[in-house]
Amino acid sequence: MVGEEHVSMLPQAPTKIWKAEVNGRQNEILAPSNAILLDVLRDKVGTLGVKRGCDMGTCGCCTVMIDGVPRLSCLTMAFEVQDSKITTVEGLSEGAHLAPIQQCFAEHGGSQCGFCTPGFLIVSQALLNENKSPTDQEVSCAIEGNLCRCTGYQQIIESIQAAAAINRGDVEPAKPASEAHSNPHPSGPN
Ligand code: FES
Ligand code: FES
Repeated sequence: MVGEEHVSMLPQAPTKIWKAEVNGRQNEILAPSNAILLDVLRDKVGTLGVKRGCDMGTCGCCTVMIDGVPRLSCLTMAFEVQDSKITTVEGLSEGAHLAPIQQCFAEHGGSQCGFCTPGFLIVSQALLNENKSPTDQEVSCAIEGNLCRCTGYQQIIESIQAAAAINRGDVEPAKPASEAHSNPHPSGPN
């Protein structure tokens, strides 16, 4: 109504400076003290590779690595992981070149529509950082919290095993099909 002040139903949380290293870059960002990490990463840091799927901890699309450990960013309070090192899918590539895990997902059909892929890539890379030669059973355990509606999972397991073989030096990585893009991960809104 004209002249009537809007009264919000819930009190606004105070804003604070959130500090963390994201993909090797230090960030200092003003965020509400009750902010969810997923929102801070997408809306403030601009890492749009972090996907919002279910927003309730069941799909794995929003997974990021926090100090090397995969966590669901939709269930993580941003200030709970203040001062940590966060890796999103954008941080996996080696400069403008895809990491073996990314290349193998592309080559072995581990990514189809691609919406779930960032979460799968993060849990896969975390597994390979800890275990250079996982069994298929260990791969299945690592990805059990991630849902994919397209691939049937077998291609994802093959992609992870192919990347493990490249990382061990057992096979040569295939030549990239195209030239590296100069800016493969344009950032989102500030
Ligand atoms: S969006 Fe976080 S688990 Fe689905
Ligand atoms: S590739 Fe489409 S949901 Fe996994």
